[in-house]
Amino acid sequence: MRHLLTLNDISSRELSQVLTLSTRIKAEVKKGIRRPRLAAKTLAMIFEKQSLRTRVSFEAGMVQLGGHAMFLGAEAGFGKRESMSDFSRVLSSMVDCIAIRAMRHATAVALAQYSRCPVINALTDESHPCQALADMLTIKERFGKLQGLKLAYVGDSNNVTASLVQASAKLGLEIAIASPKGYCFGETQLAALVGDSPANGFLLEQTTDPGLAVQGAHAVYTDVWVSMGQEKEEAKRKKAFAAYQVNSKLMKAARKDAIFLHCLPARRGLEVSDEVMDSPQSAIIEQAENRMHAQKGLLVWLLGTA
Ligand code: CP
Ligand code: NVA
Repeated sequence: MRHLLTLNDISSRELSQVLTLSTRIKAEVKKGIRRPRLAAKTLAMIFEKQSLRTRVSFEAGMVQLGGHAMFLGAEAGFGKRESMSDFSRVLSSMVDCIAIRAMRHATAVALAQYSRCPVINALTDESHPCQALADMLTIKERFGKLQGLKLAYVGDSNNVTASLVQASAKLGLEIAIASPKGYCFGETQLAALVGDSPANGFLLEQTTDPGLAVQGAHAVYTDVWVSMGQEKEEAKRKKAFAAYQVNSKLMKAARKDAIFLHCLPARRGLEVSDEVMDSPQSAIIEQAENRMHAQKGLLVWLLGTA
């Protein structure tokens, strides 16, 4: 049994397999073919934070493959109403898979520790592996490959960025991260994200200069400056990130055929301008849709029902 708490729980080869499976399943669904690969399978989804994409993509994806997803809000009460070990053992005795969006990464780790079925991280403060899966699928669809491409990330080095670093290391992309001082990854943290044997083509650059990061990039990515749980830091962060907006001027420094990505939800006018969000280069809607296709590939792979 396997969990997906971060992308370091999966090898390069396995990650490529999940993406291939996702592409195949997406193509089938687009042709109107609905293979019940997850017939009678049940996914429990626990959410401690808000969600649109993650909740809907898991739920719709399960239904498309003949399974069922159930939403459990924080009132399910793990760690409060009863111990995490009791909660996890009971829940995993009844369902085939659990997805959890937790305030703290340690909560997802503890859930997995006691679970008798696979646990998927549906976002924690440290990691957002399902997002990076969908992002890789989106880049691959646009450019026909991943290895050797350059991904530029501009903004806060956060949970989404961490998963993008892991995905890039596993799939051989070059990733350039531009964050202001005080909001960059530390060396130890980066080394842990990259792991021991990154794939050929992997390169990592950290800078405080967005213009430098996006030079020659195939994809320019940003995320909110204030993540869920950081609301108290809003004023301070808005100041620190003021020069880190992805706008038309910055996009011009990337490749002509570069795409713009954002995990969404976006704060238009802050980390990204309206112009970029709605430009022909913007791939945000297909990126969001790909959450569903990528997670279907992941579920089928984790549950061994391919
Ligand atoms: N990108 C993402 O995870 O969106 P939600 O927070 O709406 O699920
Ligand atoms: N970094 C953001 C991602 C939301 C999908 C957050 O954690 O709030």
